Amino acid sequence: MMFTRLGLWPTLRCYSSSCRSGRISAILRDKPLHQTIKVNGWVKAIRRQKERTFLDVDDGSCCQKLQVVLPSEKKPPALGFHSSVTVSGILSLSSHKGQEVELVANDVQVIGEPIEETYPFKARKVHPPDYVRQFPHLRARTNSFSSLLRVRSQTKLAIQQYFNSEGFVNIDTPIITVNDCEGGGEVFSVQCLDPDNTGPGKTQDSPYFGQETYLSVSGQLHLEAMVSGLSKVYNFNPAFRAENSQTRRHLAEFWMVEAEEAFLSGTEGLHSLMDRIEGVIKTSMETVIDVQQEDVALYWRNNNKTEELIKNALNQQFVRLPYCEAMKLLQQHSHLFQTKPSPGSNLGKEHELFLTKHLGDVPVFVSDWPRVTKAFYMCSQEEDPEMVLAVDLLLPQVGEVAGGGLREYRVPLLHRRLQQCQLLDKLGWYLDLRRLGGGTPSGGFGFGLERFLQFLLGISNIKDTIPFPRWMNHCLC
Ligand code: 4AD
Ligand code: MG
Repeated sequence: MMFTRLGLWPTLRCYSSSCRSGRISAILRDKPLHQTIKVNGWVKAIRRQKERTFLDVDDGSCCQKLQVVLPSEKKPPALGFHSSVTVSGILSLSSHKGQEVELVANDVQVIGEPIEETYPFKARKVHPPDYVRQFPHLRARTNSFSSLLRVRSQTKLAIQQYFNSEGFVNIDTPIITVNDCEGGGEVFSVQCLDPDNTGPGKTQDSPYFGQETYLSVSGQLHLEAMVSGLSKVYNFNPAFRAENSQTRRHLAEFWMVEAEEAFLSGTEGLHSLMDRIEGVIKTSMETVIDVQQEDVALYWRNNNKTEELIKNALNQQFVRLPYCEAMKLLQQHSHLFQTKPSPGSNLGKEHELFLTKHLGDVPVFVSDWPRVTKAFYMCSQEEDPEMVLAVDLLLPQVGEVAGGGLREYRVPLLHRRLQQCQLLDKLGWYLDLRRLGGGTPSGGFGFGLERFLQFLLGISNIKDTIPFPRWMNHCLC
């Protein structure tokens, strides 16, 4: 009784009686031949022959569809493209190409009507991503986007499994914050619009929290607070940036995994950090390619360069190149770039893509950056305080996917930096992490889930890696 109310009964029943009601992925994997099976799903194709009608039924559990065969005279009149159905029948070997088994139906119930004329996607047609993107509320029904969603879900899981197995503690860093961690000024501010909710003694103009607050651009500083008690921490949060660009690799809301590890210092510490970034990228790629083989293959079929790039990345050590070496290479090929590379400045996307291509279509770590190109918290090198122990990971065809470095832990240096950036008032607590003793050199990085998915699946526009993309002037549903 209780199970029925909680909706658990159908799942239990499916493995305890002779009629299995299950997900298509499990049916196609286990192939329980000659058993009575019940499936719920959507009709993705109908082929009507004189005697028999064939349906491709999809329930979103995997890339493949289940072929259902029924006598043509038993086809319900309301059945059409994208009707939702419950089908019962006997699982049998299929004599048709393309599938090993099929469901010979003895009952097809139409649950939801077929789609209407105005439905934007046509049966058996592959629509271009720019078109599909106009319908974020409907695109989970397309083959390619449902594959993307399964891969995305599995990627998040694989990343978390990696950190868990390496002894990292997951920390929920806040979404509402008072700092702009990266100092780029690309923050969205948080306001309370309800005049009755401003609190005692407050006026409509005074902020809810008593000071300006923002949506977090990064949870790094909060992770740094936690690392001094836990040694290894990570978060996996949305991050928000009011980017003034409408590129194929920027979103206003994206998901970032950030890790922070204590007791990392000097050049050796920076190399440990690169090992860690390489570790999480390679391990999660291997897991996802293995677990979501068919979904990944669907993307790779359309872009066979991607498979080669992924195998390149998995089969060798990522290249490690100090910034000054990277700059020399870029200057030698200066004629290729719209923006000429200049020492002391950041790298643009064209420079990043050149480096990965030139070095053999491989991932490249660029390390040891000029201080002026990075945020206030980066640790200066002992030998040259104008250079910091920072690193960016560049991936072929995407560019920067991860950024991080060692943190400045020396109190006088950090104090001076905070003063220079006029951050002492707001970030006194951050200085306390070092000032109050027990401070530990630490290092960490953040990497963007959506850019990582772009690389893994060869997706050219970042907006096609997230269910509901937000970017300037665009916040559909
Ligand atoms: O290089 P970023 O800005 O580094 C940080 O935020 C550090 N605080 C991380 C840390 O050390 N804990 O951002 C890290 C990554 C980028 O390499 C990129 O993959 C992604 O976040 N990213 C974006 N992805 C999509 N849209 C945007 N607007 C992004 N901005 C950064
Ligand atoms: Mg960066």
